[in-house]
Amino acid sequence: MNDPHHLVEDRDVTAQLHARGDVAVLVPAAGSGVRLGPGVPKALRLLAGEPLLVHAVRRVAAAPSVRLIVVAAPAAEVTAVRELLAPVAPVIVVPGGAERQDSVAAALAAVPDDVDIVLVHDAARALTPPGLVESVAAAVRSGHPAVIPAQPVVDTIKEVGTQERVLGTVDRSVLRSVQTPQGFRRDVLAAVHEAASAAHTDDAGMVEKAGLPVVCIPGSDLALKITRPLDLVLAEALLAHADPQPPAR
Ligand code: CTP
Ligand code: MG
Repeated sequence: MNDPHHLVEDRDVTAQLHARGDVAVLVPAAGSGVRLGPGVPKALRLLAGEPLLVHAVRRVAAAPSVRLIVVAAPAAEVTAVRELLAPVAPVIVVPGGAERQDSVAAALAAVPDDVDIVLVHDAARALTPPGLVESVAAAVRSGHPAVIPAQPVVDTIKEVGTQERVLGTVDRSVLRSVQTPQGFRRDVLAAVHEAASAAHTDDAGMVEKAGLPVVCIPGSDLALKITRPLDLVLAEALLAHADPQPPAR
């Protein structure tokens, strides 16, 4: 029973969340958070007294479509993350990898075969509301192989060349800023991960490269990615003012 594989098997059985859900959510949380500055891995940084990962998982767990959550934790923190999340929701925790894509692949490998819809969601988007998880899942369920939440780009965007010389202004109306969770038919996500060689910053990028359609649905201001110190300040203000906290389970 001390064999670690046994442990994973046991956890697989107990990690079911909403029994009638048809969705697995992968939460890559193994990054170090270089842009946030020195400290513990980003997913464990505190926001209003709780780690970002706890905020993120609590909100995902409040989405009724979610049957299973798989977290990819920093390799040295797997046990600590299991203990941290045990009171929040039933989750499977696996060690992440060197790149986000490796962490997603590790989490995907822990999803049982009978789950047909898989969402990939950054722990760093800690305040993403359960409703966005539901919307992405519903769009995949309705027949889209790949679905991403997106928002219009607010800044004017310039293309630049050497020495910061402006080459031109990009037509903003055709640009979107993309968030997570990104939703996929499981077979599509598994196939593109298997085939991927180059590193991608999101999973939809691999689907695009494979020539399959990726469709955008409206994103949420609350799904901002906490990347730099200013984002923590913003997130803290959002928590205080928008109160996106789902009820405790
Ligand atoms: N991530 C991961 N494994 C990695 C790198 C990133 O699971 N090897 C996760 C992060 O934990 C985060 C999400 O992918 O939840 C989005 O990545 P990002 O915001 O870039 O986080 P970090 O890589 O931690 O931050 P930075 O790039 O500033 O170091
Ligand atoms: Mg990163």
